Amino acid sequence: MFNFNYYSPTKVIFGRGTEDQIGTLAQEYGATKVLIHYGGGSVVRSGLLDRVKAALDAAGVAHVELGGVVPNPHLAKVREGIALGQREGVDFLLAVGGGSVIDSVKAISYGLAEPDKDVWELFEGQREAERFLPIASILTIAAAGSETSNSCVITNERTGEKRAYDDDISRPKFAIMNPELSMTLPDYQTQAGCTDIMMHTMERYFTQGGNMEITDALAEGLLRTVIKYAQVLHHDPENYEARAEIMWAGSLAHNGLTGCGNDGGDFASHMLEHELGGMFDVTHGAGLAAVWPSWARYVYRDCLPRFVRYATNVMGVAPGATDEETALRGIEAMEDFYHRIGMPINLRELGIQPTEEQILALAESCARATGGSQGSAKVLYQEDMAAIFRLAL
Ligand code: NZQ
Ligand code: ZN
Repeated sequence: MFNFNYYSPTKVIFGRGTEDQIGTLAQEYGATKVLIHYGGGSVVRSGLLDRVKAALDAAGVAHVELGGVVPNPHLAKVREGIALGQREGVDFLLAVGGGSVIDSVKAISYGLAEPDKDVWELFEGQREAERFLPIASILTIAAAGSETSNSCVITNERTGEKRAYDDDISRPKFAIMNPELSMTLPDYQTQAGCTDIMMHTMERYFTQGGNMEITDALAEGLLRTVIKYAQVLHHDPENYEARAEIMWAGSLAHNGLTGCGNDGGDFASHMLEHELGGMFDVTHGAGLAAVWPSWARYVYRDCLPRFVRYATNVMGVAPGATDEETALRGIEAMEDFYHRIGMPINLRELGIQPTEEQILALAESCARATGGSQGSAKVLYQEDMAAIFRLAL
């Protein structure tokens, strides 16, 4: 095993009706003026936004609001939020929504905390953040894990670059997680979320070393749980227990727990998907499902023991005559699972058909974003990235 830091300071308030506590929580964390940030309207339609504002009013906490965050959140909206926050003297930021809204709030917080610097520099790797305003979320979709993660992913809509910036100072103060709030999700978003949750742990599972028994046990238990309840939700979207299992899994999958002791993880599938998000604006989880089988077939020989273990312990397949056969059975079982929950297993099913020129541009951008190479199961260079995109066609 490798040495590790585990830092997950976010307070989690989980269960039915917990959003009603937002007023007292905001007070407890010293908020005097809150920027409420939300997306394209689901929280307006559900009435959640009005309830949040009423709870803040009741607690005597002032607030302003900014909606309109799109999936694969845009830099322009972040800049709008920074300008609004400065004008209004905001000292606390509250995301009401999913990963896109939480990431947009994180980026606005970086910008407000260091107003003399351009926030995009963080995402271009030109500097590290020194300050951050406190943030929290009321989660409406289990997926990205941003409610407890140290990560922030923003798309520069002008250049088509989707870039991540990771920093522990951005861990949210608290996350309100009421599984009922996710019951209004379209099935496609629920299942894309389940796919993303699994991928956050799979990225940490398929590595070349440092694997601890306790970490593997947590990871495999989490993955089996998501496989089970994703299928329950496909047929029974208002099943509270299933929503709760998935929502909690979403945080545990990406708060670092399922990576303790390993070498930092692979994350190649994520970096490949971010390029698809930047160029084609695809739904993150669905993009991951479309890329993973091709990534897996490209790398499994270099990481065979992990693929065999995954096939037997997570997918429950019978061992084949050789380890290679067992590993391939595991990948096929994963594709079957994606199909059962309505997820794509290639780019065609995702609804995009990149040309050879676009594939080369995707690979070039991915190599640039990763500093030249990415991966632990197998280290991938630009030509490998292009090869995986071609395989995924
Ligand atoms: O905008 P609204 O109208 O709210 O609709 C959203 C959006 O269209 C809808 N939705 C959310 N909750 C709903 C709902 N619709 C009905 N009822 C509800 N209760 O769902 C759609 C998707 O929302 P989004 O926030 O984009 O989903 P998700 O949580 O999957 O976030 C995706 C973003 O997070 C990034 C992704 O790259 C992508 O940009 N990621 C962030 C990470 C992090 N910060 O740690 C890690 C991830 O790997 C990921 O990269
Ligand atoms: Zn993800």
